[in-house]
Amino acid sequence: MSTPTTTGTIAVFGATGQQGGAVVDALLDHGARVRALVRDPRSGRARALAARGVELAAVRADDPASLAGALTAVEAFHFMTPEANSLEEVEAEVRIGTALVDAAVEAGVPHVVFNSVFGADRESGVPHHDSKHRIEEHLRKSGLRATMVRATAFMENFTSVMAPSLEDGEIVLRLPLPEDVALKMISIRDIGRVAAALLLGTAEAPGGAVELVGDELTGPRIAAAFGARAGLPARYEALPLSVLPTDLDRAMFRQFAEAAEEPSDLAAVRSIEPATLDLAGWIRATGWTAPAPVAGS
Ligand SMILES: NC(=O)c1ccc[n+]([C@@H]2O[C@H](COP(=O)([O-])OP(=O)(O)OC[C@H]3O[C@@H](n4cnc5c(N)ncnc54)[C@H](OP(=O)(O)O)[C@@H]3O)[C@@H](O)[C@H]2O)c1
Repeated sequence: MSTPTTTGTIAVFGATGQQGGAVVDALLDHGARVRALVRDPRSGRARALAARGVELAAVRADDPASLAGALTAVEAFHFMTPEANSLEEVEAEVRIGTALVDAAVEAGVPHVVFNSVFGADRESGVPHHDSKHRIEEHLRKSGLRATMVRATAFMENFTSVMAPSLEDGEIVLRLPLPEDVALKMISIRDIGRVAAALLLGTAEAPGGAVELVGDELTGPRIAAAFGARAGLPARYEALPLSVLPTDLDRAMFRQFAEAAEEPSDLAAVRSIEPATLDLAGWIRATGWTAPAPVAGS
Protein backbone atom coordinates (compact mmCIF):
# COMPACT_ATOMS: atom_id res chain seq x y z
CA MET A 1 0.00 0.00 0.00
CA SER A 2 1.35 3.47 -0.83
CA THR A 3 1.57 6.27 1.72
CA PRO A 4 -1.85 7.56 2.85
CA THR A 5 -2.75 11.06 1.69
CA THR A 6 -5.49 11.27 4.33
CA THR A 7 -3.86 11.81 7.69
CA GLY A 8 -6.72 13.39 9.65
CA THR A 9 -9.78 11.83 11.24
CA ILE A 10 -11.93 9.47 9.16
CA ALA A 11 -15.59 9.15 10.16
CA VAL A 12 -17.47 5.86 9.81
CA PHE A 13 -21.25 5.33 10.02
CA GLY A 14 -22.28 1.73 10.70
CA ALA A 15 -19.05 0.97 12.59
CA THR A 16 -20.85 -1.38 14.98
CA GLY A 17 -22.09 -3.44 12.03
CA GLN A 18 -20.51 -5.87 9.58
CA GLN A 19 -19.30 -3.63 6.77
CA GLY A 20 -18.57 -0.52 8.83
CA GLY A 21 -16.80 -2.74 11.35
CA ALA A 22 -14.56 -4.13 8.58
CA VAL A 23 -13.80 -0.58 7.42
CA VAL A 24 -12.76 0.35 10.98
CA ASP A 25 -10.59 -2.80 11.24
CA ALA A 26 -8.76 -1.91 8.02
CA LEU A 27 -8.36 1.75 8.97
CA LEU A 28 -6.95 0.87 12.41
CA ASP A 29 -4.56 -1.60 10.73
CA HIS A 30 -3.11 1.45 8.95
CA GLY A 31 -2.92 3.53 12.10
CA ALA A 32 -5.71 5.90 11.01
CA ARG A 33 -7.66 8.09 13.40
CA VAL A 34 -11.29 6.93 13.35
CA ARG A 35 -14.48 8.53 14.60
CA ALA A 36 -17.51 6.22 14.73
CA LEU A 37 -20.99 7.75 14.41
CA VAL A 38 -23.09 5.58 16.72
CA ARG A 39 -26.63 5.83 18.00
CA ASP A 40 -25.76 4.32 21.40
CA PRO A 41 -22.24 4.98 22.69
CA ARG A 42 -22.99 2.71 25.70
CA SER A 43 -23.71 -0.39 23.59
CA GLY A 44 -21.24 -3.24 23.94
CA ARG A 45 -20.09 -2.89 20.33
CA ALA A 46 -19.57 0.87 20.64
CA ARG A 47 -17.56 0.43 23.83
CA ALA A 48 -15.46 -2.26 22.16
CA LEU A 49 -14.60 0.26 19.43
CA ALA A 50 -13.69 2.90 22.02
CA ALA A 51 -11.42 0.36 23.72
CA ARG A 52 -9.51 0.07 20.43
CA GLY A 53 -8.95 3.83 20.28
CA VAL A 54 -11.96 4.80 18.15
CA GLU A 55 -13.55 8.15 19.04
CA LEU A 56 -17.33 7.86 19.47
CA ALA A 57 -19.81 10.51 18.31
CA ALA A 58 -23.42 10.00 19.35
CA VAL A 59 -25.84 10.67 16.49
CA ARG A 60 -29.48 10.36 15.65
CA ALA A 61 -30.25 9.82 11.99
CA ASP A 62 -33.30 12.10 12.30
CA ASP A 63 -31.29 14.89 13.94
CA PRO A 64 -29.32 16.73 11.21
CA ALA A 65 -27.41 18.83 13.74
CA SER A 66 -26.07 15.71 15.47
CA LEU A 67 -24.90 14.30 12.12
CA ALA A 68 -23.23 17.50 10.91
CA GLY A 69 -21.63 17.99 14.33
CA ALA A 70 -20.21 14.47 14.24
CA LEU A 71 -18.71 15.14 10.80
CA THR A 72 -16.98 18.36 11.80
CA ALA A 73 -13.28 18.47 10.90
CA VAL A 74 -13.11 15.01 9.37
CA GLU A 75 -11.03 14.39 6.25
CA ALA A 76 -13.08 11.53 4.88
CA PHE A 77 -16.39 9.83 5.68
CA HIS A 78 -17.63 6.30 5.01
CA PHE A 79 -21.25 5.29 5.26
CA MET A 80 -23.48 2.36 4.47
CA THR A 81 -27.24 2.22 4.94
CA PRO A 82 -29.15 -0.24 7.14
CA GLU A 83 -30.84 -3.36 5.78
CA ALA A 84 -34.42 -2.79 4.52
CA ASN A 85 -36.89 -5.67 4.52
CA SER A 86 -40.06 -3.77 3.58
CA LEU A 87 -41.04 -0.77 1.46
CA GLU A 88 -41.36 1.33 4.65
CA GLU A 89 -37.82 0.37 5.64
CA VAL A 90 -36.64 1.21 2.12
CA GLU A 91 -37.96 4.76 2.57
CA ALA A 92 -36.28 4.94 6.00
CA GLU A 93 -33.02 3.77 4.38
CA VAL A 94 -33.25 6.58 1.79
CA ARG A 95 -33.97 9.12 4.55
CA ILE A 96 -30.87 8.02 6.52
CA GLY A 97 -28.61 8.03 3.45
CA THR A 98 -29.90 11.41 2.30
CA ALA A 99 -29.49 12.90 5.78
CA LEU A 100 -25.89 11.65 5.96
CA VAL A 101 -25.07 13.22 2.57
CA ASP A 102 -26.69 16.52 3.62
CA ALA A 103 -24.71 16.47 6.87
CA ALA A 104 -21.47 15.86 4.95
CA VAL A 105 -22.30 18.90 2.78
CA GLU A 106 -23.04 20.97 5.89
CA ALA A 107 -19.75 19.92 7.50
CA GLY A 108 -17.76 20.35 4.26
CA VAL A 109 -16.34 16.80 4.28
CA PRO A 110 -13.57 16.60 1.63
CA HIS A 111 -14.26 12.98 0.51
CA VAL A 112 -17.26 10.68 1.03
CA VAL A 113 -17.24 6.94 0.33
CA PHE A 114 -20.72 5.40 0.06
CA ASN A 115 -20.96 1.65 0.53
CA SER A 116 -23.78 0.99 -1.91
CA VAL A 117 -24.67 -2.18 -3.81
CA PHE A 118 -23.79 -3.85 -7.09
CA GLY A 119 -25.80 -2.33 -9.96
CA ALA A 120 -26.83 0.81 -8.06
CA ASP A 121 -25.55 3.00 -10.89
CA ARG A 122 -29.06 2.51 -12.37
CA GLU A 123 -32.58 1.51 -11.37
CA SER A 124 -32.98 -2.25 -11.20
CA GLY A 125 -36.51 -2.74 -9.85
CA VAL A 126 -35.11 -4.14 -6.60
CA PRO A 127 -36.51 -1.78 -3.93
CA HIS A 128 -33.56 -2.04 -1.50
CA HIS A 129 -31.09 -1.55 -4.37
CA ASP A 130 -33.00 1.32 -5.98
CA SER A 131 -32.90 3.02 -2.56
CA LYS A 132 -29.10 3.00 -2.85
CA HIS A 133 -29.33 4.30 -6.42
CA ARG A 134 -31.41 7.22 -5.10
CA ILE A 135 -28.78 7.91 -2.41
CA GLU A 136 -25.98 7.68 -5.01
CA GLU A 137 -27.84 10.23 -7.15
CA HIS A 138 -28.30 12.54 -4.16
CA LEU A 139 -24.60 12.21 -3.35
CA ARG A 140 -23.58 12.81 -6.96
CA LYS A 141 -25.67 15.99 -7.10
CA SER A 142 -24.36 17.21 -3.71
CA GLY A 143 -21.12 18.54 -5.20
CA LEU A 144 -19.08 16.50 -2.69
CA ARG A 145 -16.12 14.47 -3.87
CA ALA A 146 -17.68 11.00 -3.74
CA THR A 147 -16.64 7.42 -4.37
CA MET A 148 -19.15 4.56 -4.59
CA VAL A 149 -18.14 1.07 -3.49
CA ARG A 150 -20.78 -1.33 -4.72
CA ALA A 151 -20.82 -4.58 -2.76
CA THR A 152 -22.04 -7.85 -4.25
CA ALA A 153 -23.39 -10.73 -2.09
CA PHE A 154 -21.35 -11.22 1.08
CA MET A 155 -19.42 -14.53 1.24
CA GLU A 156 -20.36 -14.48 4.94
CA ASN A 157 -23.93 -15.33 3.87
CA PHE A 158 -22.57 -18.89 3.48
CA THR A 159 -22.36 -19.06 7.26
CA SER A 160 -25.97 -17.89 7.74
CA VAL A 161 -28.83 -17.51 5.27
CA MET A 162 -27.03 -19.33 2.43
CA ALA A 163 -25.23 -21.98 4.51
CA PRO A 164 -24.64 -25.39 2.90
CA SER A 165 -25.82 -28.42 4.86
CA LEU A 166 -24.39 -31.90 5.41
CA GLU A 167 -26.82 -34.61 4.36
CA ASP A 168 -26.01 -38.32 4.00
CA GLY A 169 -22.29 -37.59 3.91
CA GLU A 170 -22.69 -35.00 1.18
CA ILE A 171 -22.40 -31.19 1.20
CA VAL A 172 -25.67 -29.78 -0.19
CA LEU A 173 -26.15 -26.17 -1.24
CA ARG A 174 -29.62 -24.90 -2.09
CA LEU A 175 -30.19 -21.40 -3.47
CA PRO A 176 -33.01 -19.78 -5.44
CA LEU A 177 -30.72 -19.39 -8.45
CA PRO A 178 -30.67 -21.46 -11.66
CA GLU A 179 -27.65 -23.74 -11.73
CA ASP A 180 -26.03 -22.02 -14.72
CA VAL A 181 -26.13 -18.56 -13.08
CA ALA A 182 -22.89 -17.27 -11.55
CA LEU A 183 -23.34 -15.45 -8.23
CA LYS A 184 -21.09 -12.41 -7.74
CA MET A 185 -19.64 -12.27 -4.22
CA ILE A 186 -17.13 -10.50 -1.95
CA SER A 187 -15.87 -11.02 1.59
CA ILE A 188 -16.79 -8.39 4.17
CA ARG A 189 -13.12 -8.17 5.13
CA ASP A 190 -12.32 -7.04 1.58
CA ILE A 191 -15.18 -4.53 1.49
CA GLY A 192 -13.47 -2.95 4.48
CA ARG A 193 -9.99 -3.09 2.96
CA VAL A 194 -11.06 -1.55 -0.36
CA ALA A 195 -13.07 1.20 1.35
CA ALA A 196 -10.13 1.94 3.68
CA ALA A 197 -7.70 2.27 0.76
CA LEU A 198 -10.05 4.76 -0.90
CA LEU A 199 -10.59 6.71 2.33
CA LEU A 200 -6.86 6.84 3.07
CA GLY A 201 -6.10 7.92 -0.48
CA THR A 202 -3.73 5.01 -1.15
CA ALA A 203 -5.92 3.98 -4.09
CA GLU A 204 -8.51 5.55 -6.36
CA ALA A 205 -11.53 4.07 -8.08
CA PRO A 206 -11.49 4.91 -11.80
CA GLY A 207 -14.68 6.87 -12.59
CA GLY A 208 -15.42 7.28 -8.89
CA ALA A 209 -16.91 3.80 -8.41
CA VAL A 210 -15.82 0.22 -7.96
CA GLU A 211 -17.93 -2.93 -8.10
CA LEU A 212 -16.78 -5.23 -5.32
CA VAL A 213 -16.53 -8.71 -6.79
CA GLY A 214 -14.03 -11.17 -5.33
CA ASP A 215 -15.42 -14.18 -7.16
CA GLU A 216 -18.31 -15.23 -9.39
CA LEU A 217 -19.36 -18.86 -9.36
CA THR A 218 -22.37 -20.97 -10.28
CA GLY A 219 -24.20 -22.90 -7.55
CA PRO A 220 -22.57 -26.25 -8.49
CA ARG A 221 -19.10 -24.63 -8.32
CA ILE A 222 -19.87 -22.98 -4.95
CA ALA A 223 -21.03 -26.35 -3.59
CA ALA A 224 -17.87 -27.99 -4.98
CA ALA A 225 -15.66 -25.42 -3.22
CA PHE A 226 -17.26 -26.28 0.15
CA GLY A 227 -17.14 -29.99 -0.66
CA ALA A 228 -13.42 -29.77 -1.50
CA ARG A 229 -12.71 -28.12 1.84
CA ALA A 230 -14.75 -30.76 3.72
CA GLY A 231 -13.26 -33.62 1.68
CA LEU A 232 -16.80 -34.71 0.81
CA PRO A 233 -18.89 -34.97 -2.36
CA ALA A 234 -21.10 -31.96 -2.99
CA ARG A 235 -24.24 -31.15 -4.92
CA TYR A 236 -26.30 -28.09 -5.75
CA GLU A 237 -30.08 -27.79 -5.90
CA ALA A 238 -31.69 -24.77 -7.54
CA LEU A 239 -34.80 -23.68 -5.64
CA PRO A 240 -37.74 -21.65 -6.97
CA LEU A 241 -37.93 -17.95 -6.09
CA SER A 242 -41.13 -18.73 -4.16
CA VAL A 243 -39.04 -20.06 -1.23
CA LEU A 244 -37.97 -16.50 -0.46
CA PRO A 245 -39.90 -14.72 2.30
CA THR A 246 -40.39 -11.26 0.76
CA ASP A 247 -41.06 -9.59 -2.60
CA LEU A 248 -37.83 -7.65 -2.03
CA ASP A 249 -35.78 -10.85 -1.78
CA ARG A 250 -37.50 -12.32 -4.86
CA ALA A 251 -36.73 -9.16 -6.86
CA MET A 252 -33.12 -9.30 -5.66
CA PHE A 253 -32.51 -12.92 -6.68
CA ARG A 254 -34.20 -12.24 -10.04
CA GLN A 255 -31.72 -9.38 -10.47
CA PHE A 256 -28.77 -11.60 -9.42
CA ALA A 257 -29.64 -13.84 -12.38
CA GLU A 258 -29.88 -10.85 -14.76
CA ALA A 259 -26.63 -9.35 -13.44
CA ALA A 260 -24.82 -12.64 -14.07
CA GLU A 261 -25.08 -11.89 -17.80
CA GLU A 262 -22.79 -8.87 -17.31
CA PRO A 263 -19.16 -9.93 -16.96
CA SER A 264 -17.44 -8.71 -13.78
CA ASP A 265 -14.18 -6.84 -13.69
CA LEU A 266 -12.43 -9.01 -11.11
CA ALA A 267 -9.18 -7.12 -11.74
CA ALA A 268 -10.65 -3.73 -10.76
CA VAL A 269 -11.05 -4.62 -7.10
CA ARG A 270 -7.67 -6.40 -7.03
CA SER A 271 -5.96 -3.30 -8.39
CA ILE A 272 -7.09 -1.63 -5.12
CA GLU A 273 -6.72 -4.62 -2.76
CA PRO A 274 -4.43 -7.24 -4.36
CA ALA A 275 -5.17 -9.80 -1.62
CA THR A 276 -8.94 -9.80 -2.30
CA LEU A 277 -10.22 -13.28 -1.51
CA ASP A 278 -11.89 -15.61 -3.97
CA LEU A 279 -14.35 -18.11 -2.45
CA ALA A 280 -11.75 -20.85 -1.93
CA GLY A 281 -9.49 -18.30 -0.23
CA TRP A 282 -12.35 -17.09 1.98
CA ILE A 283 -13.16 -20.69 2.97
CA ARG A 284 -9.50 -21.22 3.97
CA ALA A 285 -9.14 -17.83 5.66
CA THR A 286 -12.23 -18.28 7.82
CA GLY A 287 -11.43 -21.88 8.71
CA TRP A 288 -14.89 -22.95 7.51
CA THR A 289 -15.74 -26.51 8.52
CA ALA A 290 -18.65 -28.72 7.49
CA PRO A 291 -21.79 -28.26 9.61
CA ALA A 292 -23.25 -30.99 11.83
CA PRO A 293 -25.21 -33.52 9.76
CA VAL A 294 -28.91 -32.78 9.26
CA ALA A 295 -30.83 -34.95 11.73
CA GLY A 296 -32.07 -38.15 10.16
CA SER A 297 -29.76 -37.94 7.15
N1 LIG B 1 -26.06 -9.22 2.85
C1 LIG B 1 -25.49 -9.02 1.66
O1 LIG B 1 -25.05 -9.97 0.98
C2 LIG B 1 -25.38 -7.61 1.12
C3 LIG B 1 -24.69 -7.39 -0.08
C4 LIG B 1 -24.55 -6.07 -0.55
C5 LIG B 1 -25.11 -5.03 0.16
N2 LIG B 1 -25.80 -5.28 1.32
C6 LIG B 1 -26.35 -4.12 2.03
O2 LIG B 1 -25.58 -3.94 3.21
C7 LIG B 1 -26.37 -3.19 4.15
C8 LIG B 1 -26.22 -3.82 5.53
O3 LIG B 1 -24.86 -3.73 5.89
P1 LIG B 1 -24.29 -4.50 7.17
O4 LIG B 1 -24.57 -5.96 6.99
O5 LIG B 1 -22.92 -4.04 7.37
O6 LIG B 1 -25.27 -3.95 8.29
P2 LIG B 1 -25.32 -4.37 9.83
O7 LIG B 1 -24.23 -5.30 10.19
O8 LIG B 1 -26.74 -4.76 10.10
O9 LIG B 1 -25.02 -2.98 10.57
C9 LIG B 1 -25.92 -1.93 10.52
C10 LIG B 1 -25.22 -0.71 11.11
O10 LIG B 1 -26.05 0.45 10.93
C11 LIG B 1 -26.31 1.02 12.20
N3 LIG B 1 -27.68 1.56 12.19
C12 LIG B 1 -28.79 0.91 11.81
N4 LIG B 1 -29.85 1.74 11.89
C13 LIG B 1 -29.38 2.92 12.36
C14 LIG B 1 -29.97 4.17 12.66
N5 LIG B 1 -31.29 4.37 12.52
N6 LIG B 1 -29.19 5.17 13.12
C15 LIG B 1 -27.88 4.97 13.28
N7 LIG B 1 -27.25 3.81 13.00
C16 LIG B 1 -27.99 2.80 12.54
C17 LIG B 1 -26.15 -0.10 13.21
O11 LIG B 1 -25.88 0.45 14.47
P3 LIG B 1 -26.37 -0.21 15.85
O12 LIG B 1 -25.18 -0.93 16.39
O13 LIG B 1 -26.75 0.97 16.67
O14 LIG B 1 -27.53 -1.11 15.53
C18 LIG B 1 -24.96 -0.85 12.60
O15 LIG B 1 -23.76 -0.19 12.91
C19 LIG B 1 -27.80 -3.21 3.64
O16 LIG B 1 -28.10 -1.94 3.11
C20 LIG B 1 -27.78 -4.27 2.57
O17 LIG B 1 -28.74 -4.02 1.55
C21 LIG B 1 -25.92 -6.53 1.82
